[in-house]
Order: sequence, then structure tokens, then C-alpha cells
Amino acid sequence: MTQTDADDEERPVRRAVCPGSFDPVTNGHIDIIARTSSLFDEVVVAVGINKSKSTGRLFSPEERMAMLEKACADFPNVTVAGFEGLLTTFCEEHGIGAIVKGLRAVSDFDYELQMAQMNSSLVDVETVFIPTSPEYSFLASSLIKEVAAFGGDVSGLLPPDVLVQLTERLAQRARDGQR
Ligand code: PNS
Repeated sequence: MTQTDADDEERPVRRAVCPGSFDPVTNGHIDIIARTSSLFDEVVVAVGINKSKSTGRLFSPEERMAMLEKACADFPNVTVAGFEGLLTTFCEEHGIGAIVKGLRAVSDFDYELQMAQMNSSLVDVETVFIPTSPEYSFLASSLIKEVAAFGGDVSGLLPPDVLVQLTERLAQRARDGQR
């Protein structure tokens, strides 16, 4: 047995979480999830279910999770889960030592730093920031929904199945007189 084999046997599983609202998942999210999956043994994509914010959402937690499961099907070490309450509680319950966040611009940093410091004050968890790939640095689910609602072309910014579901949901909302 080589030294490396022995080290591998003793090394604990490195587990990370990619948390978010994912309403809906974008290609920017997939980029961060894919890169996280190459850095960690196991990755849980955790969909935040905050009941007080649920009225502002376009998709239910179940729909968001189903879209993510499909979009992440090619990554064997990635699973999808929902969580309510504190992210740090979810990390403790699932043996997760790292929270991974994508940073699009400096404007993301202030709040993300504050959350990272709060989270590490609550439990033993590190936050790892990954710079968003330049081609996705302008992407946000909220902006995509707004552009799509006014008929803009957002294909190429979302996984194809998500684009279909987004188009259908916005059409349904328009029929119901909601924006
Ligand atoms: O995609 P979003 O909306 O930026 O995701 C935000 C999310 C879900 C990651 C964040 O709001 C979160 O961690 N919520 C769980 C509640 C919590 O732990 N709050 C304290 C943060 S320091």
C-alpha cells in the first residue's frame, strides 16, 4: 500500500453544500455546481424553503428541486435536497463542512462575507467562494424572470427543460392576469 492509499483510507469524506433559492436554476448556478463537484467528494445542492418568501416565488420548492435534479443528472456526486430554517443546522445534520457560493461581482461580496462570518460563528463550517465564470457574471434568476416575462430571449441562460417550464409558467401567469 502506498502512502497515498493509506491517506485516502483515513481521510474523511469532504462534503459541500451549494445553497440557494434556485427560482429557477440558471446556467450560472450549474457552472458553480459543476466546479464544486470537481473539488469535493459529495455535493448537496440545497434549496432554501423560506415560507415567508414563498409568495414571491415563481416555482414551488418541489418544482425547483425537480428542475435541479434533472440539470445535475450528469454529476454523479451531486444530490439535491430542500431545507427549512438555518443553513448551518442543515450543515450540521448532514456532516457538511463547506458552504460554496459563487461570486458574480464585488457587489455580491459584502453580504456574502457577512453571511459567511455569521455562519462560521454558529457552527464549524467554512465558506468557499468561487468566482463566477465571466460569461455568467450578469445572470440572476430574478433578472431572467423579468426579461422572460416581457418576451425577451433568455434561451442559452437556462437549461433547456427549465426554459420550457419558465415559458409555460409565465404564460399561465399572464393568462391568470398575474405578472
Ligand atoms: O439564492 P439566494 O436567494 O441568494 O439564496 C439565499 C440562501 C437560501 C442561501 C440564504 O438565504 C440562506 O442561507 N438561507 C437560510 C437561512 C439562514 O441560514 N439564514 C442566516 C444566514 S447568515
